[in-house]
Amino acid sequence: MNEVVKLERHDAIAIVTINSPPVNALSAAVRGGIFECMKAAIADPEVKAIVLTCGGRTFIAGADITEFGKPPKPPGLQEALVLMENSPKPIIAAIHGTALGGGLEVALACHYRVATKEAKLGLPEVKLGLLPGAGGTQRLPRAVGPELAVKMIVGGDPISAAEALKHGLIEEIVEGPASGGEAFARKVVAEKRPLRRLRDDDSKLKAAKADRSIFTNAVAALTKKARGLEAPFAAADAVGAAIDLPFDEGLKKEREGFLKLVSSDQSKAQRYAFFSEREAAKIAGVPEGTKARPVERVAIIGAGTMGGGIAMSFANAGIPVTLIETGEEQLKRGMGIMQKNYEATAARGGIPADAPAKRMGLITGVVGLENVKDADLVIEAVFETMAVKKEVFTALDKFAKKGAVLASNTSYLNIDEIAKVTSRPQDVLGMHFFSPANVMKLCEIVRADKTAPDALTTAVAIARKIAKVPAVVGVCDGFVGNRMLAQRGKQAEKLLFEGALPQQVDAVVTKFGMPMGPFAMGDLAGLDIGWRSRKDRGIKSEIADALCEAGRFGQKTGKGYYKYEAGSRAALPDPEVEKLIDETLQRLGRKKRVVSDDEILERMMYPMINEGARILEEGIAARPSDIDVIWLYGYGWPIYRGGPMFYADQVGLKHIADRLSYYAKETNDPSLEPAPLLKRLAAEGKTFASLAEKAKAA
Ligand code: 3HC
Ligand code: NAI
Repeated sequence: MNEVVKLERHDAIAIVTINSPPVNALSAAVRGGIFECMKAAIADPEVKAIVLTCGGRTFIAGADITEFGKPPKPPGLQEALVLMENSPKPIIAAIHGTALGGGLEVALACHYRVATKEAKLGLPEVKLGLLPGAGGTQRLPRAVGPELAVKMIVGGDPISAAEALKHGLIEEIVEGPASGGEAFARKVVAEKRPLRRLRDDDSKLKAAKADRSIFTNAVAALTKKARGLEAPFAAADAVGAAIDLPFDEGLKKEREGFLKLVSSDQSKAQRYAFFSEREAAKIAGVPEGTKARPVERVAIIGAGTMGGGIAMSFANAGIPVTLIETGEEQLKRGMGIMQKNYEATAARGGIPADAPAKRMGLITGVVGLENVKDADLVIEAVFETMAVKKEVFTALDKFAKKGAVLASNTSYLNIDEIAKVTSRPQDVLGMHFFSPANVMKLCEIVRADKTAPDALTTAVAIARKIAKVPAVVGVCDGFVGNRMLAQRGKQAEKLLFEGALPQQVDAVVTKFGMPMGPFAMGDLAGLDIGWRSRKDRGIKSEIADALCEAGRFGQKTGKGYYKYEAGSRAALPDPEVEKLIDETLQRLGRKKRVVSDDEILERMMYPMINEGARILEEGIAARPSDIDVIWLYGYGWPIYRGGPMFYADQVGLKHIADRLSYYAKETNDPSLEPAPLLKRLAAEGKTFASLAEKAKAA
């Protein structure tokens, strides 16, 4: 009826097809098209049943997220859903790809649903800081019962077609969406099946109406991990209304919750994160359409902490790995850790029971760098020493096949210098994974001076293929994430010299929403590493040094900035540390003062943001949103705060620049002076986001 939604008739069956690439989102045109086509099909006396289906790669993937936060565009979706549900003729949703959010809600307003085998169905709105706003919280519990509905709505993860079939969300699994939908429609007509309106069917709510703990227990299990988030709780309330209230009142409650969330800061931040993640996959300065090199086999050098985790990430995605070590002993150890790790996950039910064997079967452990010869991508994860890296890359240059991408997982070292020892610097780049590498989603892709565009595209594409979030960065000490983190670490340490305690600093940082504070993180990583490196460089840090001299290396010795009970990772404040800090300050003649939580928060966050500004100015990151993606997926920055640069824009750059100047003077630390870019934006009343808009316009 318009250019994106078409109506055809195959004798008595009307077929309504949406064609709005890339994901058939419910834009105004799609909403209008659905309404018009349904109206016409219902009015056509020849039509006995209607199939709703989509062209392209997927069924409707949800509301058009780009429309949120803007004035609403008519027509609304609700009119179309009411028209469909009230239709006297059966309507069948024929699903392929993903039916998500508003997409699944459209399907729930149909009388029947069928789906292809690989289809996924879900209500992921909570991941955008929202709740389903088109009847999903009322119809899904009626379709599958409140327990699974809570799991899908409060948790936000989709289910497979097989699971949907098992729980009555779909009627059948079909081969093709359009043909399968049509065949099913003919069956409905032939068998004169009654119209199934979920609105009117409370049968699956009975158990929870009688015993509400079925619902509350399901909610409790899912909101346990939702610290700081608003949407999961509001979504749970809306599902609760499906149990407690008549359909129309429940719908009203859902609407109120949705409208509140859609204008919230949290949802704004989460929507920003969604688009930032996708933006990060577009490499600045690389022509669009630059083809990735094929990667069928990967070699990883080093089966230590990182090499093992990286190997698992590839095996999880079904990509075969050659894992190379210096000796059988190291290899055995590395393979053993992966095996145990997989078995523990399987025991918890995280992966199927046969997965450990299958995945370990994809990892071949060998000794000797000549074994890289078949790999299309080599990732080096050996010790963090330039000499060792150079030795390895010299060998890679000799043994790797022509055109193989050669990546280093170094945390700090200069990729240009590493590339120089090869005869093929165009193939060399960084792929900086985060620990634990089989869990953390971030991969900083480091572009060196001579890295070829298609080598970069290859690294980005393969990172996405193994379910990582890639962000391209330039060469500098620590790249983006660790370089900013170092600024925070420096301030954290300084705060101890001024009178704050580790537990006070960490509490402010975790209250903000980070998973860990700097001192607990230090204890986890091990304090001896920094101590040794300081000694090598002749640098002192009196409190940290005193801790290490007392044998307090962190979790591994049961004591660090905190104490740990045997077998526990819980950081317990330790009066001995307080004493040690006091003694150190006395020895140095330092005076303690009361440091407020507000000051701690500013000194933890603003110096990092300042470093982010320098990173942008130097072109180490192309977009502020790339920096945010790095913090969201590499360091557990709370998604509802969007990332450090987004957060800075919310706080206001002028305030941040002023406070940095203040602390620079007050604590006699010129490194805290606002970076030129921050200063300029603050003076012009602009945001970091304005830089991205400017770049896009150009
Ligand atoms: N609205 C607008 N644009 C969308 C979109 C949406 N709902 N979903 C995806 N896109 C865009 C992406 O931004 C991307 O654009 P780009 O190419 O310009 O970067 C493009 O579509 C392709 O997306 P992906 O790169 O993510 O493609 P994949 O194939 O990897 O994944 C997907 C497809 C699984 C559908 C994934 O895009 C996705 O999860 N989308 C969001 C789904 C969602 O959250 N739906 C709920 C929306 S809220 C809602 O429906 C409210 C309702 O209850 C009222
Ligand atoms: P690790 O010490 O756990 O593992 C290194 C492994 O490399 C050892 O098993 C060693 O036997 C092996 N190895 C050394 N030389 C080799 C050679 N010539 N050929 C084959 N194998 C060799 O170290 P880890 O922690 O895994 O770090 C590896 C790299 O990853 C370093 O560059 C480090 O900076 C980086 N990194 C580490 C992170 C972490 O949290 N541990 C996070 C991100 C990056």
